[in-house]
Amino acid sequence: MPTESQSNIQFMAEPGGALSGSIRVPGDKSISHRSIMFGALAEGVTRVSGFLNGEDNLATLNAFRSMGVKITDPENGQLEISGVGMHGLQAPAADIDVGNAGTSIRLLSGLLSGAISRQNFNVVLSGDSSLSKRPMKRVTDPLKLMGALVETNKEGTPPLTIHGGKKLQGIDYDMPMASAQVKSCLLLAGLYAEGKTCVTEPAPTRDHTERMLRGFGYHVESNHGRVCLEGGGKLIATDIDIPADISSATFFIVGASIADGSDITLEHVGINPTRIGVINILRLMGASIELLNERDVGAEPVADIRVKSAKLKGIQIPEEQVPLAIDEFPAIFIAASCAEGETVLTGAEELRVKESDRIQAMADGLNILGIQAQSTADGIIIQGGSIGGGIVESHDDHRIAMSFAMAALVAKAPITINECANVATSFPSFIALANQSGLKITSN
Ligand code: S3P
Repeated sequence: MPTESQSNIQFMAEPGGALSGSIRVPGDKSISHRSIMFGALAEGVTRVSGFLNGEDNLATLNAFRSMGVKITDPENGQLEISGVGMHGLQAPAADIDVGNAGTSIRLLSGLLSGAISRQNFNVVLSGDSSLSKRPMKRVTDPLKLMGALVETNKEGTPPLTIHGGKKLQGIDYDMPMASAQVKSCLLLAGLYAEGKTCVTEPAPTRDHTERMLRGFGYHVESNHGRVCLEGGGKLIATDIDIPADISSATFFIVGASIADGSDITLEHVGINPTRIGVINILRLMGASIELLNERDVGAEPVADIRVKSAKLKGIQIPEEQVPLAIDEFPAIFIAASCAEGETVLTGAEELRVKESDRIQAMADGLNILGIQAQSTADGIIIQGGSIGGGIVESHDDHRIAMSFAMAALVAKAPITINECANVATSFPSFIALANQSGLKITSN
């Protein structure tokens, strides 16, 4: 995990270039987290391939090791988890530090509330300075309704103290925001609750938890945005093949779309319908994106994605696409900066509570690069133009850093990006793959 002193790693990207060739970006971060969590609670040995060896997922892996779960070291994306069963977790010797990983802390708050509900120890979950500012009441409030006791500090932020020995009751919960993390947290607590737990989402969000639970043999009902399960069952170990992460592929999809003469194929990318907002939005902007060899790998659909450069136009981004592209907006804003005309995003206030305030971070950086970008309470208005060079801040946010790196493909002068250490949380091989594909980028 990067310490505060390492967070001044800079990326220096030279202007120009085009993206070409065929690459496989690393495994899906959301699915990698869940593979460890569900494998740990299952009966039997779960074999995982395509695991993302990034800092966020390693934080989840180490969390379970510290609670007595045997997990082999990831090697070329492969690992084995010897499940301890639904009630087999042991008290960790120390607080668990999940670093920058929001998915880890939010899903673990529900999972552990249940998994230690028959045990008499507490678990403390903490994180880095960015995670320590992120809102946790969205999970601790509904968990309280289930009978759990999860304490936050007085601002409603980490560290979290999860109390053991609290019996859980199923709830029927209407989520106030479209959040897969909140939904997953409650479903995981629901595995241990008496009776049925149902979560209704205001708009579809990623459904990896539901798909993977079914893969582990657990009955989950999904109907028109309402997901339900009965507590008291068990998970049976299975094999999981994790697709390449569409969120990591996005930087190359955008880079190839904006840089003249590009033609790149991203192999074996997850194209779960709850994750392809970026493809839908870029196609509306005029991007040339083809899905090849569509197939199912276990519980998830995958495809090879071929992207050629195209003339983009500004659009009003449909609000129903927002949760389906929630992690891809920093890169989409780079595409909007290269499009003809105005792009308007609304209904995306959740972007303000991600690893950074992604609306403000992107608006500020784009302005430095000579693009007119105006932040609004719940979105941004971007006028397409010509990207210049300069020094921009990533605010320790991996996706901001990688998005600005791709902007260099069309920039008139070099772009330097500050605080890039957290790129290792989701995409440790970014610099190597970006250079291999045609971006000229170094890091100090
Ligand atoms: C995730 C859900 C999303 C996303 C995050 C990963 C997940 O967060 O932004 O990167 O794995 O469930 P929200 O559910 O808070 O929108």
